[in-house]
This record gives sequence, C-alpha cells and structure tokens, in this order.
Amino acid sequence: MGRRHHHHLAVLAALLVLLLCCCGVASAVPARRPRPGKPKPKPPPLVNGKPPRNSKFVTLNPTVFGHKRDYQASCTDDQDASQACYVGCPVECPKSCLVFCAYCLSFCQCDIFPGTSCGDPRFTGGDGNTFYFHGKKGQDFCIVSDADLHINAHFIGNHNPDLNRDFTWVQALGVTFGDGHRLYVGARRAVEWDEDDDHIQIAVDGEPVDVDAVRDARWESSALPGLSVTRMKAVNTVMVQLDGVFAISANAVPVTEHDDRVHRYGKTESDSLVHLDLGFQFHNLTKAVDGVLGQTYRPNYVTSLDITAKMPIMGGAPKYLSSGLFATDCAVSRFQRHHATDDVDAGGVTTFAS
Ligand SMILES: *[C@@H]1O[C@H](CO)[C@@H](O)[C@H](O)[C@H]1NC(C)=O
Repeated sequence: MGRRHHHHLAVLAALLVLLLCCCGVASAVPARRPRPGKPKPKPPPLVNGKPPRNSKFVTLNPTVFGHKRDYQASCTDDQDASQACYVGCPVECPKSCLVFCAYCLSFCQCDIFPGTSCGDPRFTGGDGNTFYFHGKKGQDFCIVSDADLHINAHFIGNHNPDLNRDFTWVQALGVTFGDGHRLYVGARRAVEWDEDDDHIQIAVDGEPVDVDAVRDARWESSALPGLSVTRMKAVNTVMVQLDGVFAISANAVPVTEHDDRVHRYGKTESDSLVHLDLGFQFHNLTKAVDGVLGQTYRPNYVTSLDITAKMPIMGGAPKYLSSGLFATDCAVSRFQRHHATDDVDAGGVTTFAS
C-alpha cells in the first residue's frame, strides 16, 4: 500500500515537473546508437492520433526569443539521418511540451497525461482521450462525482464580441469528501499578473490554509488526518493530497497576451483571468464514478466524442451543472453523504441523488 502510494506520488511529481515551465532551454536528445546491422524498429502505430502510453519523449521548454535551436527539439540520430527531424511546441502550449522523436510529433502535457485540465478547459480523461468542456461562465459543474468524493469546478469566462463566443477557464475547485468536509482550491483574481505573487487560495471547512511561500513547505491538517498541502514551487503551484483518496496538483496561471493573440480570447485590461491548470490522481474511485472527467475513469467507459475531430467537445453541460461550488446535486451525482447519526439507526447512508 505504502509502496504503491509512493509510486503514485512519484508519477504525479514527475507530471508536475513537466507541467511547470522551468528553465527555457531546449532539451537535447541523446543520440541513440542502433545495434549494427539491425534496422531501426518502426514505432507502434498512433492511438487516436497519440503515441501509445509508455512511449519515450523529451520535454521541450522553448525560450521566447531564442535561436531556432532553442525553440525546437532536435531529434537527429547520427546513425540514421533519415530519422532526423526538428519539432517545436504546439500553439496551445508554446512554453513547454513533450516531443516524441519516434513520431516526430510534439504534444502539450495536458493532451498526453490522463487526469489533466488546462487552459480554456481542455481535459484529458482517464481513458487518455482529450476533449474540451466549456461549461458556462460564472457557473459550477461536477467534474468528478463518486460515493465518497465530489469535485465541482467553478468556471470564469470572457466574451469575445468579435467572434460572438464565450471562453471559459476553471478558477476554483470545490471538493466535498468524507462526512461532507469541504476543500476549496482557487486562483485569486488579479488585474495584472505578477509571477512573484501567490495566487493560490486554499480553505478547509471554511478555514483558510496558510502555507509559507517557500518551495516544499507543507501543511498537514490536524483535524482531518491524511489531508495535506505542499508547495511545489514557492508560489502558484501546490499539491493537495488526501491519503488514499486523491492527489491534485494546481498551478495558477494567467491568460497571457500571447494566448490572447493566438486564441483571440478578447481579454480585457481589467482582468488577467488567472485560472488553474490541474493534474488529478485518484486512488479510490468506484466503478460508478461520474462527472465530466470522472466518467472517463470507469472501467467500461467508451467515449462518445468524435476524438478524431481537431477539437472534440464534451456536450451535455446541463447534466453536470451544480447549484453551487459545494453542491453535490448535479444530475449525474453519485455522492452519498454519510451521517454519523444515520450510521447507528439507518444503515448509514443518505443518498441525495441516484
Ligand atoms: C474508499 O472508498 C470506499 C467506498 O466508497 C470507502 O468506503 C472508503 O472509506 C474509501 N477509502 C478512503 C481512504 O477514503
């Protein structure tokens, strides 16, 4: 158990490192030396346009004004010039991406790792498929709903009158767990983004959680054993864990001028639209789990999205609409609140939704 848990943590920590744009230097790809006389094996075919799990990749963190070498990964192999290729990052993640040299393709982290949500929100499900879920500005949607765990996301947004389109981002999570405990993880609004300021806000059962703005600083709940918050960077990146249940990495990021130019979000001067890029790991989901992201973890889940579309969209927003950040009342809710008193006389469980 402890070992498996450690393994999960290691995986999530690796994911977090990848989600962070750190040093802005292109990673060099070590030249592989094929065995003499043997032709290089063909890589396995793409699965829904993506390299299969466990494919090798390098992380590319291009610099903005770098030389060509600095914003492209070089996949040259001395032994086989025909495999040489240069790849840059996709427009959705110009600052950091993963390069799969065997395919000469690059992807955003959020399009590769299961259990992620980034940008205007793009989720990658437990099944590995990537889709958009736009929700609605100013409203809350259940993204995971299970017997003992319910997670809503609060969406903020912007309207671009030129495109007549609303854009949305996830600003906060409302996590309900156990006997109805409430964990808030949110991004603080800022007119102007300052990367040295902390924009993460956390509260447990309404009490703000203060963690020193120092890398690796950690807070552990005394009231709720197993609940902790760890700063992965001094500011704006945390890992929130409930042992045996979940680990959630949250990274507060603004909508940048660059994003705005590329996507034509129509950002206004009065808001940098600070939102959360998220990575989820779940350790104790049931087979009945639902919600925008949760359903993709069901063992028998078959996506109904056209995953070959450039931008598959998960519709059916009304099914996921919650009446508040901590409401467990979305139509697909699976949450069952345990009441200590009911445990004695009525077998334990009050179901608020089927
Ligand atoms: C895991 O889920 C089961 C079933 O929902 C629940 O009874 C149990 O308490 C959960 N474990 C933890 C550590 O929360």
